[in-house]
Amino acid sequence: MLQIEIDRLNKHYAGFHALKDIDIAIRQGSFVALVGPSGCGKSTLLRTLAGLEKTSSGDIRIAGQSVIGKPPRERDVAMVFQSYALYPHMDVEHNMNYSMRLKRRPKPEIAERTRAAAETLGLSGLLDRLPKALSGGQRQRVAMGRAIVRNPKVFLFDEPLSNLDAALRVHMRSEIRKLHERLQATSVYVTHDQVEAMTMADHIVVMRAGVVEQQGSPLDLYDKPANKFVAGFIGSPAMNFIPVVVGPDGHTLAIDGSDALVLDRKLVPGTRLWAGLRPEHLSFAPVSDGLTMEAVVESVESTGSMTFVTASVGSQHLVVAHGGRPGVEKGAAASLHISLKNVHLFDRETELAVSA
Ligand SMILES: Nc1ncnc2c1ncn2[C@@H]1O[C@H](COP(=O)(O)OP(=O)(O)OP(=O)(O)O)[C@@H](O)[C@H]1O
Ligand SMILES: [Mg+2]
Repeated sequence: MLQIEIDRLNKHYAGFHALKDIDIAIRQGSFVALVGPSGCGKSTLLRTLAGLEKTSSGDIRIAGQSVIGKPPRERDVAMVFQSYALYPHMDVEHNMNYSMRLKRRPKPEIAERTRAAAETLGLSGLLDRLPKALSGGQRQRVAMGRAIVRNPKVFLFDEPLSNLDAALRVHMRSEIRKLHERLQATSVYVTHDQVEAMTMADHIVVMRAGVVEQQGSPLDLYDKPANKFVAGFIGSPAMNFIPVVVGPDGHTLAIDGSDALVLDRKLVPGTRLWAGLRPEHLSFAPVSDGLTMEAVVESVESTGSMTFVTASVGSQHLVVAHGGRPGVEKGAAASLHISLKNVHLFDRETELAVSA
């Protein structure tokens, strides 16, 4: 069943077109990540779902009903903000059950739902603390608790982990994902961190400048990016791009500083393309088919489990991500290899992927 349907949605702020013909369909129970660079419209889209922002045209349906014009409290959604937005003078218990008290729910129901949410989130021992006496992670849990007690159909998260340190972020990612599964809710999660999106979501929507560039499963976006922007955005470290030109026979790509790459398809001779090479697909060990480039190693950085090598090929600088220790040294010559199946091609004019 579709829980959220966004159809040709547009949003104009005074003189600024912030969302452009957005189409997204979200299944009941799925975890959707909205990603994209700062200012691309992620928060605006989330706020239009919550009803905190008016739309200019298009439709939003939640559980089959259009919610255009409906105030936030009638949408059955709960939003968790980056700032947590806790009331500083209320203790944890009263922060969590504020919305139920506002709606004058029966006292026993308020007590029971608060107790259950606190237990789910490991906050049972902290109910009488004020926000200022909590750690960042605990505040984040209270903000989640406030959303959970409302038992909404849809959870909306706007970068809820960005104020936490790296270790706590990783921990809270899996907590949020587990909670999503336990509550069988539908979640829309905004982040500019593509690793967070890849690890948490079943469906990722990549936005740029108010437009949906591509949406799909995490591995679809990684394996088949529709354009150069998505290719460069998804994956860490980012994909390398080198300019190439299709040779006169249409079957080879001329690459500066290396042998030509022999293609398994015919392209229009003279077409200018970007070849996209993921750092983790470049290897110092030969491959049976594909491209071999003569490189000079410029830097070697190891984290222990991974080694990141920067190498120059002609005038290009490529990043190589190597599991373990590749045994190459700064300043040395090395051959770099990549399989043909791992070479992505994008038109240099349109930046769209060139399909096989
Ligand atoms: N009230 C407003 N009036 C005018 N323009 C606005 C308003 N709110 C947001 N914008 C503009 O709309 C665009 C999208 O903003 P939005 O906050 O949705 O971006 P975002 O993707 O959430 O970015 P970030 O990752 O920095 O949070 C930005 O260019 C922003 O300047
Ligand atoms: Mg934002």
